[in-house]
Amino acid sequence: MIDKNVFKKLSYGLYIITSSKMSEKAGCVVNTVTQITSHNPVIAISINKDNYTNKIIKESKKLIINVLSEKVNKDVITTFGFYSSKDTDKFANVNYELVENIPTLNEGINGYIVGEVISITSVDTHDIFLVKVTSSKVINDDNSLTYKYYQENMKGSSPKKAPTYIEEEIKDDSKPIYRCMICGHIYDDNKEDVPFASLPDDWKCPVCGVGKDKFERIN
Ligand SMILES: Cc1cc2nc3c(=O)[nH]c(=O)nc-3n(C[C@H](O)[C@H](O)[C@H](O)COP(=O)(O)O)c2cc1C
Repeated sequence: MIDKNVFKKLSYGLYIITSSKMSEKAGCVVNTVTQITSHNPVIAISINKDNYTNKIIKESKKLIINVLSEKVNKDVITTFGFYSSKDTDKFANVNYELVENIPTLNEGINGYIVGEVISITSVDTHDIFLVKVTSSKVINDDNSLTYKYYQENMKGSSPKKAPTYIEEEIKDDSKPIYRCMICGHIYDDNKEDVPFASLPDDWKCPVCGVGKDKFERIN
């Protein structure tokens, strides 16, 4: 038996991986960054095969790990963690600079690591990228953002494509239940005071900010 709740006991940091090819920029939030060796530093990152950032990294073989700090604006995580670079210019509203032609955040990070892909291992839905560090920089001493801080202090969640996503258990489904098609947030009429159908037209998803039309009924 696999008790998925034990996965919630694993601790993680949060990062934005950025990459570029020619003038095309991509980036996504990940929690799966681990240092593997120290002498010739190598870092492992797990990225969903459907993420546009995965495609750009495979083409350019270069990326930057932006180490998020507790000061990062939650909107930045929403943009980079719930939308796709395929159809969204994620850099339109963020302050960034180009480092080795790769966009690097200028705020909400405490350091960055530039790396070159040395191997890619396919694991089911994800690819594990092994990245050789070529340069890196500490920006400030702000606390690194942890998953725990993001969930508890910033009230953040994770979408289906994050390796840590756990499907919410539904105990009572006598009334309609709706799911946000962008971020997976559940609006459950069995638990809410106001039924979904009676929410005002300008109501927005509390996690990713999209309108009611982006919710689908799931029962
Ligand atoms: C808190 C959080 C953690 C995430 N962790 C990962 C991760 O480790 N690997 C991954 O592939 N996606 C992860 N994601 C999901 C991607 O950021 C998301 O699918 C993003 O929209 C992909 O964007 P892209 O298509 O521009 O690459 C995470 C998202 C959030 C909000």
